[in-house]
This record gives sequence, C-alpha cells and structure tokens, in this order.
Amino acid sequence: MNLASIPRQELPELLCRMPKAELHIHIEGSLEPELIFSLAERNRVQLPYPTIEALRAAYAFTDLQSFLDIYYAGASVLQTEEDFFEMAWAYLLRAKADNVVHSEIFFDPQTHTARGVPFATVINGLDRAIQQAGKELGLSASLILCFLRHLTEDDAFTVLEEALPFRDKFIGVGLDSGEKGNPPEKFSRVFARCRELGLRLVAHAGEEGTADYIWHALDLLQAERIDHGVHCLDDPQLVTRLVQQQIPLTVCPLSNVKLCVFPTLASHNIARLLACGIRATINSDDPAYFGGYLNQNYLATFAALPELGAAEAYQLARNSFEASFVDAETKAGWISLLDAFFQQQCA
Ligand code: ADE
Ligand code: ZN
Repeated sequence: MNLASIPRQELPELLCRMPKAELHIHIEGSLEPELIFSLAERNRVQLPYPTIEALRAAYAFTDLQSFLDIYYAGASVLQTEEDFFEMAWAYLLRAKADNVVHSEIFFDPQTHTARGVPFATVINGLDRAIQQAGKELGLSASLILCFLRHLTEDDAFTVLEEALPFRDKFIGVGLDSGEKGNPPEKFSRVFARCRELGLRLVAHAGEEGTADYIWHALDLLQAERIDHGVHCLDDPQLVTRLVQQQIPLTVCPLSNVKLCVFPTLASHNIARLLACGIRATINSDDPAYFGGYLNQNYLATFAALPELGAAEAYQLARNSFEASFVDAETKAGWISLLDAFFQQQCA
C-alpha cells in the first residue's frame, strides 16, 4: 500500500470516511445543551443558566476542574431510563455518521446514584441504546464503568457492588474526574478486585497529572490502556515501556486544548507520540463540551499538524482497533475492512 500516493487535499474526506473505533468518550460528555434544556424542562430541574446560549457561553474552561463543575451540573438533568437512552442514542447516531464501527463508552454512575437515581436506571437506559445501535445501525458498542477519583475508594467499592448484578452489561472499569491530588494508588484495592472479577481495566492518567501517574496506573492498577497519557513524553523510560509493551493511549486533542493541557492544537504532541511508536489513538472525550465529535477531532488535528498524513491516518485507525477490547477475530475483521478502504484510496 503506497500511502504517500494519497494527495494531502484528499485527507479530510479520507479521515471522515475511514472506519474507526472510539475508545474514550464519556457519555455524559455527549449531552448537548439542547438536550440538557429539554430534559431539564421534562424533569422540572432548575438550571443555573437562563438559556441554551448562556450555557454554551459558560464553556470556557481554564483547567479540568473548571470543566468538571459544569459537566456534573449538566448531568443533573438525567433522571429516567428514557433520559439515559436518549443521550446514548444521540451519541450513537453521531458516531455512526462519523464511520465509527465500534465504541467503548465511559459512564459515571456515581454522578447519578449520588442524586438518588438507581444504578439500574442508568445502565438499562444506556444498554438499550447500545442494543438498538447493534441492530439498527450495525454499530457495536460496550460500556466501561468509571470510578470518580475525587471520591473515596470505599465509594468505588459501593458502586461496584451495585453494578455487579449487571455484570453482563459492562466490560470494564476506568478512573476519571479530577486527577491532581487523586493518584492511582488511592484505588489499587478496588482495581485488584475488578481484575479478579475479569473486568478490563483502564485509567485516566497523565492528562493534568505527571508521568508518575501513568507509571502508577500501569503498575499499581494494572491498567491495560491509559486515557490521555500525553505527559508520558516527559519521561523517556516511560516512553520505552509504552512502546515495548504497546500500551495504548486514548488521546483527545480537542479536549486537551479546551482544558489548557496544550495551548493550541499545533503544539499538541500526538504526531510525536506516533513517531515514537506509541500506540496512540484519537478520541473525543466530551464532544458536546469540547467542540466536536470524533471526525472533528481527526480533521482539526490533521489540519493543525503538517506532520500528519495518510500513513498516520491509517496508523491511528488501526491503533483504535488494535487497542479495543474485542476478540481477536472481530479485530482482524475490522482491520481487513480498514486495509480494503485504504487500498481503494491508493488505487
Ligand atoms: N470526566 C469527563 N471528562 C474527563 C476528563 N477529560 N478527565 C477526567 N475526567 C473526566
Ligand atoms: Zn476522559
């Protein structure tokens, strides 16, 4: 396959049309202001913003915490199973439009159970949308339960207990929310329990936190993938390990700029991560808050970084499949689909 033969002006269409997986999307971060307002009205929830425009205008973040405050407030409109279904279905339709063939979706149950919403309401609504996407859209998706790291490990054990009757409806656990001051080791016992239960393990690390958080997520939590992980380049020994073990990073370029992890997309390190041989992927994180869904992340990143061309597009899509938690046969099927797509582009 001679990827260099693909002209640069064909890149945007190629990025949009290529089959891909998304591995880092918080479903509550797909809640668009319009849906927040309609659910608030339906559920009689008072919002601190008078209009959709006023809410959108508040999406000017200075760091992760300034975003999380608004994100948790937005999620407070979700109350019924139908609300969770509608949110997830809206995301899955957008993913389908972006030629996503598989998505591994984070959800934050503690945000909802703390408001008295039963765990069953949350997961049954999300799962119904996923089942429907499989049947009607031909899109496969699975759920990853995230523990909120600003809460305690006992809180994480409590939600894990609530989740276990629904063990067949989620494939793994993750760790999200405010990173600084909440290191991975705070959750080492609950992650060990999840490992015994056969759950897949991921963790946000090295988004705002240092490279040490990535080491600890790998060594103390046994995380199989690192969410964000962009601070790994500060530590050459860590880079060697990520490359040798082909540990995937689920990178979210638009998120990183919105949360001031990088000042601009042009200064983002995704091209360097790939050049080092790290299994990096592109993802949308919280698309309703950060200016775009998956294809928008690809388009804006490639437009900002001239080092990224067709070879990197192929590598990123391939990495997204390699890094997914599906069986080897399914993975191979998607990679064949990707190869056939690129072969056609080269012809
Ligand atoms: N929850 C939702 N988005 C997040 C992010 N980017 N980092 C940590 N926790 C999150
Ligand atoms: Zn995230």
